[in-house]
Amino acid sequence: MEKIRRTTIKTLLSDPAPYIDTTVDVKGWVRTRRGNKHVQFLALNDGSTIKNLQVVLDLSKFNEEDLKPVTTGSSVHVQGRLVASQGKGQSVEVQADELEIYGTADPNTYPLQKKGHTLEFLREKAHLRPRTNTFGAVLRIRHALAYAIHKFFNDKGFYYFNTPLITASDCEGAGAQFQVTTLPLNELPLTDDGKIDYSADFFGKMASLTVSGQLEGELGATALGCIYTFGPTFRAENSNTPRHLSEFWMIEPEMAFYEIEDNMDLAEEFIKYCINYALEHCKDDIEFLAEHFDKELVERLRFVVDNDFVRLPYTEGIKILEQSGKKFEFPVYWGVDLASEHERYLVEEHFKRPVILTDYPKEIKAFYMKLNDDGKTVRAMDVLFPKIGEIIGGSQREENLVKLEERIAEQGLEGMDWYVDTRRFGTVPHSGFGLGFERLVLFVTGMQNIRDVIPFPRYPNNCEY
Ligand code: 4AD
Ligand code: MG
Repeated sequence: MEKIRRTTIKTLLSDPAPYIDTTVDVKGWVRTRRGNKHVQFLALNDGSTIKNLQVVLDLSKFNEEDLKPVTTGSSVHVQGRLVASQGKGQSVEVQADELEIYGTADPNTYPLQKKGHTLEFLREKAHLRPRTNTFGAVLRIRHALAYAIHKFFNDKGFYYFNTPLITASDCEGAGAQFQVTTLPLNELPLTDDGKIDYSADFFGKMASLTVSGQLEGELGATALGCIYTFGPTFRAENSNTPRHLSEFWMIEPEMAFYEIEDNMDLAEEFIKYCINYALEHCKDDIEFLAEHFDKELVERLRFVVDNDFVRLPYTEGIKILEQSGKKFEFPVYWGVDLASEHERYLVEEHFKRPVILTDYPKEIKAFYMKLNDDGKTVRAMDVLFPKIGEIIGGSQREENLVKLEERIAEQGLEGMDWYVDTRRFGTVPHSGFGLGFERLVLFVTGMQNIRDVIPFPRYPNNCEY
């Protein structure tokens, strides 16, 4: 074939004018093939957009036998003229002059058929899952959101700060960490009193995968002012729910001199910015998902962007739940860690808009949160969303050295000196929060299960690929 610069299908379909009546070079996977004995039509997709390009094969130019392997799933290289399309359903099409087959896909064994597949079935076909319309859409939206996040913080003067994935501390103190070790598990070295001798381990101490970059992020913020992290986090909680992953990505901004109100303002502005960005830049993909999975998707996204979030202390939230007259599966009382059904009642039924719940009892929150004057509650803030429940968790941090040391002692945490030093030397009021990236993608795509918004999900009893 002649050497012509390849054009993506997205370019040809979104801005065809410069290419009309010229010879174009396209490459992609065949989605469908149909036609008659005079002419054949391929729907070609190259992943750049959810839309397919129609390729017309005039059988006076091609040998039918040569075209036999061009079936659903095969990959091809086509050169031909881009012309305004006669048929309906597309504005332009390529009238092929030449076709090269890269790879065939035996129709008897190719797992993706024209009829729809269940999302569960597709989870087991990891190599083909991204080639479906649904996951293509989800993954393009995921990319756009990641870009929007970096853009939002960069434009605000925040610095991207990388925190370690292997760590010796447990930020959330929930004991849900995956251990990292090179010790021989069937022949563990022991100390004199029979405990595992971690001094013989790779790092000379016990180490784990991080559950959050926050503590290290605070060191960044108390030097650079405003930072954010964006990286994978790992949690060994045995939560087999549609909203939990064992490996998920988290965005954690941390800001010196921010108090809880500033923190809430930032969280609300941030999440609205991301949703707006997707609405503007992922129109085709969002419309596809809305049509196939969730008719109210676009309306819900706009609603969140257009309305103020409710801000409500936990204690008030508990009162509303108690007075709701609703039969919850889990009981409601002051001090309880809210379950997803409680969060969703407040958001979906009572207020009918996102809620930022603040000032939780200190017993159910992490040690680093700033204690309120009542001595009972901490300056926490959880952002609760329709369909999702908690999407953001954050707080103002305890900047008082004595109070922080008390909380650390209460919880029996060790090895935190490096962290407490930020309060020992030039301490400042500061705040931050964590957004679960997949929960955001879940919300924006309208998918039902968090396992369907990450290319390779990790969850209990599943570590394929
Ligand atoms: O509320 P979390 O545990 O907060 C923290 O980790 C803080 N250190 C954040 C901070 O203040 N810098 O987690 C934050 C968010 C949750 O609101 C949720 O969206 C998401 O992370 N998340 C999960 N997402 C998927 N799977 C899981 N197992 C998750 N656990 C938390
Ligand atoms: Mg939380």
